[in-house]
Amino acid sequence: MTHAVAQFAAIAATALFILALYWMNDPKTARRGVYAGVAGMAIAVVATWIQPEIVHHAWILLAIAAGFLVGVPLSRVPLTAVPQRTALSHSFGGLAAGLVGTAEYYLWLQEGPEHFTTFRMSALVAEVILGFLTFTGSLMAAGKLQEVRWIPQRPVTYPGQNVVNLGVLGAAVVLGVLLVRHPTAAWSGSVFPAVIGLALLFGVLLIIPIGGADMPTVISILNSYAGLAAVAMGFVLDNRLLVTAGALDGSSGLILSIIMCRAMNRSFTNVLFGAFGTVKKALVAGEQKVWKQESPEGAAQLLDQARLVVVIPGYGMAVAQAQHKVRELFDQLTKRGIAVKFAIHPVAGRMPGHMNVLLAEADIPYSALVEMDEINPEMPQCDVALVIGANDVVNPAARYAKGSPIYGMPIIDADKARTVLAIKRSKKPGFAGIDNELYVRDNTWMLFGDAKGVIGDLVKQFAGGGLH
Ligand code: TAP
Repeated sequence: MTHAVAQFAAIAATALFILALYWMNDPKTARRGVYAGVAGMAIAVVATWIQPEIVHHAWILLAIAAGFLVGVPLSRVPLTAVPQRTALSHSFGGLAAGLVGTAEYYLWLQEGPEHFTTFRMSALVAEVILGFLTFTGSLMAAGKLQEVRWIPQRPVTYPGQNVVNLGVLGAAVVLGVLLVRHPTAAWSGSVFPAVIGLALLFGVLLIIPIGGADMPTVISILNSYAGLAAVAMGFVLDNRLLVTAGALDGSSGLILSIIMCRAMNRSFTNVLFGAFGTVKKALVAGEQKVWKQESPEGAAQLLDQARLVVVIPGYGMAVAQAQHKVRELFDQLTKRGIAVKFAIHPVAGRMPGHMNVLLAEADIPYSALVEMDEINPEMPQCDVALVIGANDVVNPAARYAKGSPIYGMPIIDADKARTVLAIKRSKKPGFAGIDNELYVRDNTWMLFGDAKGVIGDLVKQFAGGGLH
């Protein structure tokens, strides 16, 4: 009976996971997607728990309590910290897979060699290697993004690094193959920890040459590793739900990394081995740069005279939490008959969909959001491009500066607008660490300050009657 229930639960949970991913495709249904995912997971946990062979209920309750203790505070992190929070979740997933594989191996050693089929042992070794490398790799990625002091943010590279990294992974795989062939040999009990050690080391080595700007892409690659580890775990435990859920997790992580790589015009190998994010010398260093500044009054007048305003939000809008003020400005402008569009760059901010989520939070209509490819042909007709805390995604150097780390990345053509108003706090570069000539162009005026404050000042100009 419980077996039939488990079968049914597995199908129901898998269907809910697929629906969850489908609904996540659109901001309008995303919330429903989250509920579906939670329901699927709850069904999966309960269906596993009621199996007759599960007897250690007190331990399970303890584990659930520990999960809540960690999970609830994690759910409260600000949106800007979501990438590192996601990395932490992957590290837990990896650790769980690695520990389950380890426990299962030693259990089988005790229970008898009949458990060690080549297939199960191969799955177990894959689970352990993928699980433990995801654990340390994701921890390192989270640490880099959180700017933990003892983890260097910049890419750490040295000659022969790729050879060393592949050597460590290769050694883990070779030892793993030995274990698959001789799982119960006298030496296997000591080789197993060596595989774990090498996988843990590889996770660290994999991340240290990668710079902060590539971390979100790497996190989603690690997501797919965690998914693959879960698939392997499903084969080890003979649990079909783990196989399907892991496959969904693994493939969605992979697809997301491909989308991000495309949006940055980078290849996978370039992300993993290219040491992007090295702070390059400023491209226009030495040239006389004139930063022209505009007052809120002057900027408001420019906006007031515009027919089409294109707002280009970036990471700075997220840092400043300026989206609600942006909404107020949107209302003021549209009230005056000015067309306002939001240009969404696929990698603006620090995670996929970052800008969409913030703007949706402030109830800005979805119809006002325009993807990069659609808005760019309109940019020459745009009267004012209002850049709010965006930098790399509007840097014209991406079009021609071959040595630049962002060369080839598609950008939003803010520079083609008649006038550019750019809000940022200082003259510092953006995430890729390079200067942006957009800010010193003839048609650009800077509004220095925190985005929330500056937009608030602009709103006051309109609302306070400073303008007609
Ligand atoms: P960035 O290039 O990081 O620039 C953000 C700008 O916002 C900075 O120049 C900063 O200048 C300004 N800023 C920060 N806090 C601010 C505040 N409180 N008020 C006003 N301005 C503020 O951002 P972007 O243009 O959104 O580009 C995203 C970068 O992340 C790209 O390099 C992209 O490749 C990378 N990346 C993103 C993703 C995803 S999925 N989104 C994935 C991988 C990589 P000040 O310090 O002078 O204020």
